[in-house]
Amino acid sequence: MAGADNPRLREIAEAFVRHMHAFAREVKLSEHEYDIGIDFLNRIGQATHDAHNEGILFADAIGFSTLVCLMNNGNGGPTETAAALLGPFWRANSPVTESGASIVRSPTPGPDLFATCQVVDTSGAPVAGVTVDVWQASPIGLYENQDETQADMNLRGRFTTDAEGRFAFRSVKPAGYPVPTDGPVGEMLRAQHRHPYRPAHVHFLGYKPGYKTLITQVFVDDDEHLESDAVFGVTRALIGDYRRHDGGTPPAPGVAAPWYTLSYRFVMQRGESILPKPPIK
Ligand code: BEZ
Ligand code: FE
Repeated sequence: MAGADNPRLREIAEAFVRHMHAFAREVKLSEHEYDIGIDFLNRIGQATHDAHNEGILFADAIGFSTLVCLMNNGNGGPTETAAALLGPFWRANSPVTESGASIVRSPTPGPDLFATCQVVDTSGAPVAGVTVDVWQASPIGLYENQDETQADMNLRGRFTTDAEGRFAFRSVKPAGYPVPTDGPVGEMLRAQHRHPYRPAHVHFLGYKPGYKTLITQVFVDDDEHLESDAVFGVTRALIGDYRRHDGGTPPAPGVAAPWYTLSYRFVMQRGESILPKPPIK
């Protein structure tokens, strides 16, 4: 590695090789096991295409994505991080949507959800002009790009915060869902006797030049898998108050009880506003 021009590349590659060698020594890797490992890696690559990212799914399912997320967010201080892993299902260019409008773009089962959100900075002051991407799986457990019965970009939308840092949207209450298990990651989970479920959540990505891009998820508080998320994304700070309403005046005409409301405040800190590479197209 000494010949690499870029010092950071040198540092990373040198440590990677050192750890790979130490790993083989520690487990006394046989040649047959080496072949199995190479085959597993190759199949992760082969399972990855424009609509699916098995590489990210693998990093997520071994807790690696969350480790990197936790190391790079939260400032190492006493407060919990407001960030959570991106996951493999974020798509760029989701539809620009008026605050308060719905992200349901084709008939979708599930109770209505009315979300009101605010973005503030670390001093508590509102941050206006933040572009916030919102995406979630349908209550049958599939993102629109996994399910041809859903409209393109169903349950995805892009909002901009107003002068008070606020944006709102209408959707359906998310349900928990299994991560895809038809590839190498599914084989791994079955071998480990782990369930594949993620607790129900909505994803958010907040972007504004001058602020550190905020990538996070807000989890449903009554989900049975909050303590055992297959990809380790849950922190207490990210459990939302999805409040059930059984009566009273609904927030919009034609809404049947029960409906849910979610109110959530995101904190963005000053920093570099780098957008991740979309895992799928
Ligand atoms: C998601 O929340 O979209 C997700 C995250 C990790 C693996 C699979 C799905
Ligand atoms: Fe998700």
